[in-house]
Amino acid sequence: MIDFTLTDEQLAMREMAHDFAEKEIRPVAWDYDRDGTWPQEIIEKAWELGLMNSHIPAEYGGPELGTLDGAIIEEELSWGCSGITTSLSANGLACTPVILGANDELKKEYLGRLSEAPLMAAFCLTEPDAGSDVSGMKTTATRKGDKWVISGSKCFITNGEYANWYTVFAKTDKEAGHRGISCFIVPRDAGVIVDKHEDKMGQRASNTATITFPDVEVPLNHLVGEENHGFKLSMMTLDHTRPGVAAMATGVSRAAMEMAIDYSKERVQFGVPIAMHQAIQFMLADMATKVHLSRLSYYNAATLLDQGRRNTIESSHAKRFAADSAMEVTTDAVQVFGGYGFIKEYKVEKLMRDAKILQLYEGTAQIQRLVIARETLLPRKADAPVTV
Ligand code: CAA
Repeated sequence: MIDFTLTDEQLAMREMAHDFAEKEIRPVAWDYDRDGTWPQEIIEKAWELGLMNSHIPAEYGGPELGTLDGAIIEEELSWGCSGITTSLSANGLACTPVILGANDELKKEYLGRLSEAPLMAAFCLTEPDAGSDVSGMKTTATRKGDKWVISGSKCFITNGEYANWYTVFAKTDKEAGHRGISCFIVPRDAGVIVDKHEDKMGQRASNTATITFPDVEVPLNHLVGEENHGFKLSMMTLDHTRPGVAAMATGVSRAAMEMAIDYSKERVQFGVPIAMHQAIQFMLADMATKVHLSRLSYYNAATLLDQGRRNTIESSHAKRFAADSAMEVTTDAVQVFGGYGFIKEYKVEKLMRDAKILQLYEGTAQIQRLVIARETLLPRKADAPVTV
């Protein structure tokens, strides 16, 4: 059965998230963007309301919502500000490998920390020389007695400066390519160094840092999943989280479309509101189609996971379509505003800057196409595992 009707619980959750975005995020979003401020106050309020960590299972103190539930929340919050939403939702990226692969003791300790207090965690995969090419990473983890010693540096780490703990991917067998990567939890107080805070074009309320692990030691049981199985764990994680990025992109597109609609009804040129001109109507129509299809694509990708099915291609379809659409919709929204769209006072330009990163993080638009091409040319088994 195909049914796009949300349950009463999902509708109530969507309303709560929208209300939060409208009252707590929107009014301050442009100030946070201008100053690049860390949204601590908003994080604390969102955490209190249960709008963070939706993915954490109940036995570790979380609300154990489904992937679709979490994505619906992300669309609404991103309608308010996608930068602040990146800060609020990045725990999901850091926790997914833990939920998929960690032992019970690790889950209790580290997922429990996020359930007990408004703390942050960060997902550390990317390195200066290993972005799209994950298996080119140079960070190493070496077994020494009863410890793992982790050495290396990770860049573009969301929430890196504020994280209480890190999910870190490192080479445990340098000769084995993608089959020599493992995943670890590294608590911040193990000696992690925050090297660089990035000054970004958009999503300026999110924190992006370089994180260095200078021979940091963690106990042997801080290995997440099996040794040398970290690459697949990272790919499975991205299958889980890309629908959320698509949902965020949908929220950004929707916000831009609404601004363009409101402005087109007010702005008079050639004696009529510009909404009366077909040239503008067609731009608004294309925006509406893109918002609609972006939402359907993330609903589909998220629902498959909630049904326990693999969603690799659908996840990439959703991420690439919704992110590309967000870039197009926000650019067209600026166009509807004409010269005013280029002026910060009119606010729509922030959405265009924010949209850009959606085509870059959690796999570029090109990587999504690469995944789609591979899955189309050489489909993997539909019953391939979705957990490790
Ligand atoms: N699920 C399970 N297994 C998978 C998988 C998936 N989705 N995708 C690939 N695999 C398996 C393959 O079956 C293969 O298995 P075998 O070893 O058994 O053969 C293995 O993994 C290697 O797969 P590939 O040959 O496809 O690997 P590749 O090196 O060619 O890489 C890639 C594939 C798609 C390019 C991948 O590297 C990729 O997704 N790159 C982008 C990384 C990315 O998204 N980075 C963003 C980091 S997160 C972020 O943005 C930070 C932030 O804070 C926001």
